Amino acid sequence: MQGVTRSRRVGALALLLAVSLPPACGGEPRPVPAKAAEVIAPAPDPEPVAAALEPAADPALLARASARFTALECNRCHEIESIAAPTPEFDCVGCHRKILAGDFEASPQELAGWQSRIHSLVDVPRLVPGPRFRRAWLQGFLADTHDLRPNLEAGMPRFALAPDDVATLAAWLSPAAETAAPALGDATRGRAVIEAKGCGTCHRMRGVAPLPATTLPIAIAPAALARGQRLAPDLAHARERLRPAALLQWLESPEQLQPGTAMPTIPLDETERRDVAAYLLQAPLEAVAVAAVPERLPLLQREVRYEEVDAKIFHKTCRHCHSDPELVIGDGGPGYSGGFGFPKRGLDLNSYEGILSGSLDDQGQRRSLFSATPQGVPRIVAHLLARHAEQAGRPLPGVRGMPLALPALPLEDIQLLDTWIAQGRKRNAQPGDDAEGAP
Ligand code: HEC
Ligand code: HEC
Ligand code: HEC
Ligand code: HEC
Repeated sequence: MQGVTRSRRVGALALLLAVSLPPACGGEPRPVPAKAAEVIAPAPDPEPVAAALEPAADPALLARASARFTALECNRCHEIESIAAPTPEFDCVGCHRKILAGDFEASPQELAGWQSRIHSLVDVPRLVPGPRFRRAWLQGFLADTHDLRPNLEAGMPRFALAPDDVATLAAWLSPAAETAAPALGDATRGRAVIEAKGCGTCHRMRGVAPLPATTLPIAIAPAALARGQRLAPDLAHARERLRPAALLQWLESPEQLQPGTAMPTIPLDETERRDVAAYLLQAPLEAVAVAAVPERLPLLQREVRYEEVDAKIFHKTCRHCHSDPELVIGDGGPGYSGGFGFPKRGLDLNSYEGILSGSLDDQGQRRSLFSATPQGVPRIVAHLLARHAEQAGRPLPGVRGMPLALPALPLEDIQLLDTWIAQGRKRNAQPGDDAEGAP
């Protein structure tokens, strides 16, 4: 309990970690399941995007934008130009970065433990208004998000934004009228430039022959290279995402469009830039096979107790967004208190009693996590399977995948939870106890 008074100002999650981490849960992290990057999105349209230029954004939308970014809490994950960061206990990415930088007040042992366990929600793209993105793409992405960066563990959460908010946020991110692009060059030469300049060291481009990871023509520190590799988007999206004029500007100086960007400036002359742009916008993209959504595994034959499910699932990931704020002081995370634009669900996955007490429905009534869906799957299991469906590019209407915006749980972990539920949700084994199940 020594953390309580010291860490009050750094907030709920730190306190949760300081005061409620049972020793049994301090085990080694398992490798994170690879994000199923190949199977996430259907192949983009091979046709180059039609040439109609976008007009300037509606000033009425721009006027309300910063209030909406703040209300929807986009700043808990993104640094957003000219919009203040949230208070420390709400700042997901800010706090994780501070801890990894060793910049957080805690004992060296505590800090080292946290540092070894934090891996997601550290690198997230900055949001900078400018001419880079097509507003139409932004609207589509905010309404129905998909994976852009194959090496980034966390993705953008699937929100349920009102159409008005989608239009407002997209307008702010891309406010100006689009300018016409200069003529493009030759796509075949563009491919050769991409190979010679080592773009494939960081980028992939789904649907074309793999980009080789050749030596870069510039010096780059290993940490900057690693960050660049995590944040580099799949270039197959460039044709839907980028305004062509901005693409040419980007190839000349990424820093000019996106201050602090993880993409280094790689010297390209004007012909090379036009050739590369032609390849990125026009190279035919082969359709990528759509992966099957993996099947739920059969129940285990052995006995499963709460402590195993908690250590492998709830304590590792879920509780960071789903905790009773009475116990952690302050905010209980967006899955408990509401946040990121979602209503309060009151779902506490940080304790046995919390899990048994269920969550709040849209009318504010408590409902069980274990009641069966029309498919006969316990509700909480359905949310975990839905994350697999989202990663295969087929989100299920009405069932938001969990863990929100993070890689789907391994099927074996879902099987463990499923078995625990089917066996009557047994508590931890106590000496002399016959492990009563829950009602
Ligand atoms: C839980 C953290 C989180 C929250 C909250 C969040 N985002 Fe994101 N967002 C991400 C991550 C991670 C990515 C990178 C996704 C990828 O590359 O696949 C991203 C990507 C984006 C992008 C694409 C930018 C680029 O450079 O590719 C936009 C635009 C965006 N988010 C807007 C928003 C808006 C608007 C909100 C608030 C309504 C928001 N985000 C809230 C995590 C978050
Ligand atoms: C005050 C600091 C702080 C804030 C704010 C914070 N976290 Fe964390 N987070 C931590 C620490 C410390 C750990 C490591 C806990 C452990 O394993 O002992 C962690 C771990 C995690 C993990 C599991 C490890 C990983 O990297 O995947 C997730 C997921 C997570 N946090 C999500 C979030 C989200 C989402 C938010 C915002 C809603 C958030 N955190 C806000 C401090 C914070
Ligand atoms: C060190 C890694 C690295 C290398 C090498 C690199 N890039 Fe990038 N690139 C990035 C990152 C990171 C981003 C995203 C930057 C951001 O959003 O701030 C990016 C963004 C882009 C974008 C915008 C794509 C989009 O969808 O927003 C294009 C186009 C691009 N790079 C082309 C290239 C080309 C062409 C080369 C070779 C000449 C290259 N990159 C080399 C890391 C790299
Ligand atoms: C990054 C934050 C975050 C993480 C991590 C997370 N959740 Fe959630 N969860 C939410 C939010 C926000 C909601 C509310 C979504 C909504 O209202 O549609 C939610 C809703 C749910 C619901 C539905 C509640 C209801 O009745 O509507 C379940 C079940 C759930 N989460 C389970 C989990 C489990 C299990 C994990 C860990 C494997 C997990 N969540 C991890 C943020 C998170």
